[in-house]
Amino acid sequence: MINFTNKTTIITGGSSGMGLETARCIVQAGGNVVITGRTLSTLEDARLSLVETSDGATERVMIHQNDTSNLESIANLLEETKQRFGNLDNLFVNAGIGIFKPLSELTVEDFGKLVAINFKGLFFTIQKAVAMINDGGAILMTSSWTAHRGLAGAHLYSATKAALHSLSRTLALELAPRRIRVNSISPGYIDTPIVQKIDMSKTAFDAAAAQVPLNRWGKSDKVGAPAAFLLSDAASYISGQDLIVDGGLVGAHNFKGAEV
Ligand SMILES: NC(=O)c1ccc[n+]([C@@H]2O[C@H](COP(=O)([O-])OP(=O)(O)OC[C@H]3O[C@@H](n4cnc5c(N)ncnc54)[C@H](OP(=O)(O)O)[C@@H]3O)[C@@H](O)[C@H]2O)c1
Repeated sequence: MINFTNKTTIITGGSSGMGLETARCIVQAGGNVVITGRTLSTLEDARLSLVETSDGATERVMIHQNDTSNLESIANLLEETKQRFGNLDNLFVNAGIGIFKPLSELTVEDFGKLVAINFKGLFFTIQKAVAMINDGGAILMTSSWTAHRGLAGAHLYSATKAALHSLSRTLALELAPRRIRVNSISPGYIDTPIVQKIDMSKTAFDAAAAQVPLNRWGKSDKVGAPAAFLLSDAASYISGQDLIVDGGLVGAHNFKGAEV
C-alpha cells in the first residue's frame, strides 16, 4: 500500500526503537532515509540492520551523528542530506528522552535538557527543514500517550509532548498552501531502549502491561508501520491529527476487577 520510491525522509532518533522501525518500513518500500542519533556505534549498527533487511538498500541509507538540541548541527544535517539525496519529502521528528521523577525533585538542569531535546530541537529542526521539503511532503512528530492521560512523575515530559499536538495542528494549517501534511503519533507503552534506560523494575513493567486492554507492551514495529503510513501518500488526506498507538490504553479505564 505504501511506496517511497524516489522519496527522501529524515528520521531524527532513527538509530533505535520506533524511529529505526519506521526507517525499516520506508527503506523496504523503496525510499531513501537519513537517520540521526548521538551515538555513532548505534547508528552504524542501525545502518547495517537496515541494509541487511532490505534488498538494494546500501545506497539509500545515510547516517548522521548529531545532538538535536544543538541548533548548529541541524544545519549540517540538512546540508549533508541535500548533498546526498537533494530535497526532502518527509521529516519524522522523533528523537526524544524521558526524565521521570517527583515534581519536587525535578531540577532546572533536567528542565533545560528535556525541553532542549523534546521540544526546542524538534521545533527548530522543522523550522530549518521546511524550505527543503518538497510541496506535497509530510511532517510527523512523536508525541506520547502521556499527553492524553496523566502519569505521575511525567509532568514535564508530558508537557513537552502535549505541546506537539498544538504545534502539529497549527503547522498543518500554515503549511497547507504547500500541501505539506503535519501530524503527530502518540505511542503507548512500547518496549524500546528508552525503557531500559529508565531502569524499570519487572514488577512495574508488568503493572504497566496490565493497564493496557491488549495486556502487553507494544514492540517498536507496531509504531513504525503506522508512522510510515502517516508519512506516505496513502495518508494524503490526513493532516493536523494525532494517532494514538497504544493497545487501547488511553481509550479505556481498565479496571481488572470489573465484571462483564
Ligand atoms: N517507548 C515508549 O514507551 C514511548 C512512549 C511514548 C513516546 N515515546 C517517544 O518515542 C520517541 C522514540 O523513543 P523510543 O522509545 O523509540 O526510544 P529509543 O530507542 O531510545 O529512541 C530514541 C532515539 O532518539 C535518539 N536521541 C535521543 N536524544 C537525542 C538527541 N539529543 N539528539 C539526537 N538524537 C537523540 C536516540 O539515539 P542516541 O541516544 O544515540 O542519541 C535514539 O535514536 C521519543 O520521542 C520518546 O519520547 C516513547
